[in-house]
Amino acid sequence: MNACLASPILQTRPMLIGGKWVEAASGEVLSVENPARRQVIAHVPRGSAPDVDIAVEHASAAFSTWSKVVPRDRGLQLLRIADALESRLEEIARTIALETGNALRTQARPEAKLAADIFRYFGGLAGELKGMTVPLGEHVLSYTRREPLGVVGAIIPWNAPLLLAALKIAPAICAGNTMVLKTAEDAPLAVLLLAETCQAHLPDGVLNVLTGTGPECGAPLLHHPLVAKLSFTGSTAVGKLVMQAASERVLPVSLELGGKSPCVVFPDAHEDWVADGIIAAMRFTRQSQSCTAGSRAFLHEKIYDSLLDKLVQKASKLRIGDPLDEETDVGTIINEKQFRRVCGYIEDGLSQPNNKLLAGGLPPTEGPLSEGYYMRPTVFANASNEWRLAREEIFGPVMVAIPWTDEADVIRMANDSHYGLAAYIWTHDVGKALRTAHEIQSGWVQVNQGSGQSPGQPYGGYKQSGLGREFSLESMLDSFTQIKAVTVNLTR
Ligand code: NAI
Ligand code: MG
Repeated sequence: MNACLASPILQTRPMLIGGKWVEAASGEVLSVENPARRQVIAHVPRGSAPDVDIAVEHASAAFSTWSKVVPRDRGLQLLRIADALESRLEEIARTIALETGNALRTQARPEAKLAADIFRYFGGLAGELKGMTVPLGEHVLSYTRREPLGVVGAIIPWNAPLLLAALKIAPAICAGNTMVLKTAEDAPLAVLLLAETCQAHLPDGVLNVLTGTGPECGAPLLHHPLVAKLSFTGSTAVGKLVMQAASERVLPVSLELGGKSPCVVFPDAHEDWVADGIIAAMRFTRQSQSCTAGSRAFLHEKIYDSLLDKLVQKASKLRIGDPLDEETDVGTIINEKQFRRVCGYIEDGLSQPNNKLLAGGLPPTEGPLSEGYYMRPTVFANASNEWRLAREEIFGPVMVAIPWTDEADVIRMANDSHYGLAAYIWTHDVGKALRTAHEIQSGWVQVNQGSGQSPGQPYGGYKQSGLGREFSLESMLDSFTQIKAVTVNLTR
């Protein structure tokens, strides 16, 4: 491993409340670790209920003026933030790589670019915050207004921290809300850089960014009486807690939760590009720590062996190593807890009768890769849709390959999951592809590609994968505004 990529100096980064950079009221801190070295690289405040109180009060005070700013002017600030993010893209991308273990070239840099793009996209949409007139008769004028909700409480995870923060901040702030956002314990640093960039263009208190744990800092935010909307990305288990908290005050809630997404491959799709596409869909270059990972590969039995062979050869060539090294394709798992969890799934797969491990397996215990939470792309053949590996979100680079023969049966298996986030279909037959796309119970189906999300596309889950949509105009209008109807009698 390259010596010049050694960990940087230990730093302490404060959090943002009411336009000021502050420590936690308790004075306590949390450590942030570089998972490629298992070394502490920074400390951040360990925020808790008193910090949440102050942040929400600032956000609430800022709402009365921010909500009255002309939407196009709010949008203009977002456009400026997009430019400012681009001007420090490299610093932000390296910070993401350092704290998450995501490889700079394949993941962290594209994530930083996409986050800037999200600000630009929503900034340009500010003029779309319009209402309509309702034809109730010549004697009345009835029209609607899109009004912001108030203080949004947002909680994000660590897997794509900057992008997920941008997807909450940009549409919410553009629509005239203010926000208190809690970062993930494992990845607060890049989001604090984003907060710094936003703060340079926003009035004090419009955006407040807290660091802290879920139970100590996230829970008081969910339950704070002045919070008017909850927006959460993370596990389905915590998503259910968010919904419970919302029910206490009948708050609107947006949830972006997990997935166990199927790749359905028809017998005519057996070329190299299909194998490349499945690898992309599986998000191996993000260590598959992605809610849209196509982790269940349903391959038609006619091509099962030959396509798996191609897939395994290609996946085994991905370069695993230091996330900051430009040559690296695959970085590390986020932390020790997730690392052990993923190892547990691999052990479970190895204990299944007739399992066939084609690639990867348990991580190396010696050599340079044992210095961090590195894992190799892992593929189990002879898998069944009943395995725990095929039913639970692993959030690690473990794919199961399941053979099929009957079209109705593969659709049944694809839908046999409490998740429904993404799906991938591979065939040259457009009729078959679209028929299958329409049958699959997922919020997003891709045909013949395994790409990531783009601004403009309504993205979100069916079933327990979530509620609401992100990435699109609808996400701003539906998730961050409420409609008021005004009806005026014209005869008086
Ligand atoms: P998590 O859902 O516990 O954490 C996500 C966020 O929720 C973090 O900011 C955390 O501090 C916060 N949180 C945790 N408990 C909370 C509580 N009681 N009240 C308020 N906020 C709380 O996810 P975790 O533990 O990091 O990962 C566990 C599993 O969750 C992963 O293996 C994966 O399966 C899934 N996950 C899914 C994600 C997605 O994008 N769909 C993202 C991250 C995790
Ligand atoms: Mg970390």
